[in-house]
Amino acid sequence: MKNAFATLSEVEDFIWTNLHEAVQRGRHGWHCGVLATSPPEGPEARVVVLRAAERDSRTLRFHTDARSPKHSQLLDFPKVAWTFYDPDPGVQLRVSGTARPLSALATEALWNTLPRRCLKSYATIHPPGSPQETGSADLGPGWESVEPGAIDAAATLPHFSAFEVAIEKMDFLFLRAAGHQRALFAGLHTNAPTQSWLVP
Ligand SMILES: Cc1cc2nc3c(=O)[nH]c(=O)nc-3n(C[C@H](O)[C@H](O)[C@H](O)COP(=O)(O)O)c2cc1C
Repeated sequence: MKNAFATLSEVEDFIWTNLHEAVQRGRHGWHCGVLATSPPEGPEARVVVLRAAERDSRTLRFHTDARSPKHSQLLDFPKVAWTFYDPDPGVQLRVSGTARPLSALATEALWNTLPRRCLKSYATIHPPGSPQETGSADLGPGWESVEPGAIDAAATLPHFSAFEVAIEKMDFLFLRAAGHQRALFAGLHTNAPTQSWLVP
């Protein structure tokens, strides 16, 4: 078990070290987190992969299909909560922030770096969430055996989008049998950021 944190700056370093590691390592507990949006018709939450974390700009990034409901929701209602949990060592990170789509140029540059196998995620014929008659993956005839190499890569570019989340607040909870610890980092995109311990 990890020792208790002695200072808030130790907590902050731990958060960023782990966010960076979670981007790189699929088995890290924070590699996937639950991203919640809040359109007027009610909150929606889903798992997305953490694709980038940048401490200097205090931003996180995720990728999605530009045709998905969340894409249009985010353009209109960009406030998000993104929550991560790593059971070992028992740490929850609740991020609140504002999501902004990358520019078309930056999106294409990013798309060019994606491994070909990832493009399959953006190759459905119809928009994600469209009703259909069967349980097909909607990749065309013989969908169960479509190899990534058979995907029309260029056709996936307009479907690909990436959002950067400017972190406004991070609420960190460390679960320990001896007693939990909780810390809040707020105002992270203002001139007066604050940090404080909270009762867990
Ligand atoms: C482990 C896991 C990782 C996922 N990663 C992503 C992701 O990075 N981007 C994404 O758009 N959807 C991802 N999904 C699918 C979403 O959870 C969701 O089902 C889909 O995006 C549709 O959401 P929407 O209807 O709110 O647009 C992932 C699902 C799981 C289970």
